Amino acid sequence: MLLNKTQIDKPDYKSEILRLKKELNATILAHYYQSDEIQDIADYIGDSLELARKAKATEASTIVFCGVHFMAETAKILNPDKLVLIPDLEAGCSLADSCPADSFTEFRKNNPQYLSITYINCTAAVKAASDIICTSSNAEKIVRQIPIETPILFAPDKNLGRYLMKVTGREMKLWDGACMVHEAFSEKKLLEVKHDHPQSKIIAHPECQENILAYADYIGSTSKLLTFIKEDSSESYIVVTEPGIIHQMKQIAPAKTFIPAPPLDDSCNCSECPYMKLNTLEKLYNCMLTKSPAINLSKELIDGSLKPLERMLSMS
Ligand code: 13P
Ligand code: SF4
Repeated sequence: MLLNKTQIDKPDYKSEILRLKKELNATILAHYYQSDEIQDIADYIGDSLELARKAKATEASTIVFCGVHFMAETAKILNPDKLVLIPDLEAGCSLADSCPADSFTEFRKNNPQYLSITYINCTAAVKAASDIICTSSNAEKIVRQIPIETPILFAPDKNLGRYLMKVTGREMKLWDGACMVHEAFSEKKLLEVKHDHPQSKIIAHPECQENILAYADYIGSTSKLLTFIKEDSSESYIVVTEPGIIHQMKQIAPAKTFIPAPPLDDSCNCSECPYMKLNTLEKLYNCMLTKSPAINLSKELIDGSLKPLERMLSMS
């Protein structure tokens, strides 16, 4: 068989990534929303909390973070002296974008009565202006630890905030932010899928809107959804979150069926996170080869954002 020029020039990414991993003394961390091939080559796959914990605990001198920018930034804040690489620097997050640091700081300045619990999906500058960080895995536990007389500002995800108010009974001031992916699920189409698969349980991420969460048999962070499908006795699930997670679901429970919930618009892949999917095996290889792009943060930003992150780790 004759190979064309591109095939000849293209390295074997998987073996090259493994070679570079040794050369750089690197660990590859990946979020559950990454492509299947990235998940398969990662040393560790997790949700935001697990990945932050792994980043803190690693003895590797380089962290290659296959996720979005705020996740890699968190790894850098926890490891200021290590090289932290991300395959694509443009891998942002619509939730983080919905909370610009200047308006958040301004709000904090004008409303000093609030204690701010800020979802980890935000920039380092917003973290530095926050009191405590949380993830969807530990948010409820953290909210429950705040004395009842303390007013809470929850930012930036209003959907997660509203869900937390419901489960804890705690009133909170909510920032008006949302995730474009979790807001793109269609209630009408979800009900149609449920109608066609009545035995399937609906499982959803708390970033979804209230009207979608109302139908969920179980609500949880990505890692909690994985634990649920492992321990639950059902054979089939309608999964209302980014479909990248289904790769791990199939590995954990190969005999079960996982149906991705449909987005509002049939003509797009809007339930796929466009930022998470910017990372590819080729970009992963290139970033390890060139040691770039790397996450760089000022000492001031690292010192400021470390405190609320450490508060989160000690409270969860
Ligand atoms: P998890 O912490 O549940 O993995 O959520 C991260 C995220 O960005 C969901 O959109
Ligand atoms: Fe951000 Fe939403 Fe993508 Fe998660 S799925 S990284 S919240 S844009």
